[in-house]
Amino acid sequence: MKQKIRVVSGMRPTGKLHLGHYHGVLRNWLQLQQDYDCFFFIADWHALTTEYAEPGVIRDYRRELLADWLAVGLDPEHATLFVQSEVKAHAELHLLLSMITPLGWLERVPSYKDMRQELSHKDLSTYGFLGYPLLQAADIALYDGAKVPVGIDQVPHIELAREIVRRFNSLYGKTMVEPQAMLTKAPKLLGTDGKKMSKSLNNCVYLSDSSEELRKKLMPAITDPARMRRTDPGNPEVCLIFDLHKLHTPPEEVTRIDGDCRTAAIGCVDCKKTLFSGLDAFLDPIRKKRELFLQDTARLDEIAFQGKQRAEQVAGDTMDRVRKAMKL
Ligand code: TRP
Ligand code: SF4
Repeated sequence: MKQKIRVVSGMRPTGKLHLGHYHGVLRNWLQLQQDYDCFFFIADWHALTTEYAEPGVIRDYRRELLADWLAVGLDPEHATLFVQSEVKAHAELHLLLSMITPLGWLERVPSYKDMRQELSHKDLSTYGFLGYPLLQAADIALYDGAKVPVGIDQVPHIELAREIVRRFNSLYGKTMVEPQAMLTKAPKLLGTDGKKMSKSLNNCVYLSDSSEELRKKLMPAITDPARMRRTDPGNPEVCLIFDLHKLHTPPEEVTRIDGDCRTAAIGCVDCKKTLFSGLDAFLDPIRKKRELFLQDTARLDEIAFQGKQRAEQVAGDTMDRVRKAMKL
């Protein structure tokens, strides 16, 4: 049997998942778990680099994140799903890699300055935060991750991981696989206020939203701002409701809506109602599965445990090679 290519990726447990996560990340992971040997993990130590002052929330989000993953169809039979902090080798490899990582490499990562500015209300002048991409390098190298599905913002992190593995291999002999980013293209998805969908802007449609919450978010959502009256023709290209139609409504109907919007044959209220029913039908099974998993704590724990065991096995082999290479 041909060996499947190893894919590694992680997600920080810092909040509930919204449609942006689904279309930007999870949909891609669902595809990947069919064709690759996937290791997907909950990066709770990474969450700690910014949430260290209030670490309690991480634990709740960790459970919810696993429930969300399972609800959308990530399958522990197909992919190894686990929690980063349960596999201590991430910390050991992070430490060992830190010995060979020049400070300048970390300081030059663009997200370092950007995030510190963006999160200026938090004190991120910490060692842990500077080491964020190094921990990420350890996450990947530990599993000999060849491909790392990430969004464009994470590409510099994967490049750094590649440089560090390369440096390790040239110092101590070929030990780990040099990873490569696998760019996920995320469809355009705006929040209900027309800005980027993001938890901090409070404009998200969450996978866990009830029908009622969904309706309350969609009905007042911004549409084409130039369409002031029902009789004004609209431009679906600038309308976030239309973007969602493209993702959740059958193609023939999308074409019809496109035409009817431009000629003012439909109004925004009806257009939103159509979207609501499609989106609600999409979310319904996800919501239900999510609730079932959240109620069945034993099952969630069991899945995380199985994932941890599989991850530990692979990580253990890598660490044996790493320690030997470093003459430890
Ligand atoms: N930094 C990633 C993010 O914010 C999460 C992450 C942690 C990750 N470790 C990783 C992604 C390893 C890919 C591989 O999205
Ligand atoms: Fe947007 Fe639909 Fe209104 Fe057109 S009719 S502006 S696509 S909500």
